[in-house]
Amino acid sequence: MLNKIGVIGAGYIGGVLVQELVRRGYAKTVAATDPAPFVNSDDPPEKREAARKQSVAKGKALDILEGTPLLRSDVEVLAGRDYDILQGADLVINTAGVPRKARPDGSFPSREELLEINLKVTGQVADGIAQYCKDAIVISIANPLDAIVYTLHKKLSPPKNKLVGMAGVLDSSRYRYFVAKAAGVSVENVEALVLGGHGDTMVPVRSCTRVAGMPVETFVPADDLAALEARTRKAGGEVVGLLGFGSAFVSPALSALEMVESIIYDKKRIVAACALLEGEYGVDGLFVGVPVVLGANGIEKVIEVDLTDSERSGLDASVNAVRKTCEEVDRMIGASVG
Ligand code: LAC
Repeated sequence: MLNKIGVIGAGYIGGVLVQELVRRGYAKTVAATDPAPFVNSDDPPEKREAARKQSVAKGKALDILEGTPLLRSDVEVLAGRDYDILQGADLVINTAGVPRKARPDGSFPSREELLEINLKVTGQVADGIAQYCKDAIVISIANPLDAIVYTLHKKLSPPKNKLVGMAGVLDSSRYRYFVAKAAGVSVENVEALVLGGHGDTMVPVRSCTRVAGMPVETFVPADDLAALEARTRKAGGEVVGLLGFGSAFVSPALSALEMVESIIYDKKRIVAACALLEGEYGVDGLFVGVPVVLGANGIEKVIEVDLTDSERSGLDASVNAVRKTCEEVDRMIGASVG
């Protein structure tokens, strides 16, 4: 059990995270910060005053705390609009930013199109972490995933092991679910890796996909697998299109918790996660989804897996897509890309 876990952003993902952290008892204290609701200076004074008294983070925290007798949990929850609540956190999960949202015509933006708006809040996130918990292990979920992790790295320069992005666990979980249904077997029997950036170029690695230790092609024909892989690449958007009000939030939160669990219990679980590459996979200075060992020190190792030629070229294309978005970051914040 850690002393304190911080959750930045108390939106949909943040809410599930706090609820689950309280239920699972991974830390004595969970601290959630969110500046919402915003006070609109154009509103009449009474409305502004009312908004000032509100706090999404505090509201969610109180709701969850009032359920703790039923959860049989004595985990404490601190919540507020400001980052000071994160003081001394050992681990922080960053969810801050706007999610993708379906437009009235049913279309929706790419994750990359969130960059400009989410970069601003990421600057505040980095300042908050630097001021109140600079030694914390940081797991970042906000989109565009790989570019936001890259931005946090540029602003905080943490040791390589202490900053990691959550996307590969989620993308792999989606692929595992689709394969399990197609194979007619338990989701527990399917092991898979989805590598690369958390965008439409991500690479479901078929050669690493096993059903109870056996090659996946034994259970699902190649053409069907290709369709499942295509669905996996767009799975986040599929949920955005269905929900109408935002993006997936339960499976992303559970995926981050899978990583938290491996860190707090020093399990050394191998997961796909967004990690700083310094020569691995021929990439230097970018954060990309690769297999890593997660333990008490955060990222304890980056694993270089053998890929088929087509998987390798898929990964290269995905790295190039991540590089392009990171170059945008550099243009916006003024730094240099690896
Ligand atoms: C998704 C978002 C959270 O893939 O990136 O659903």
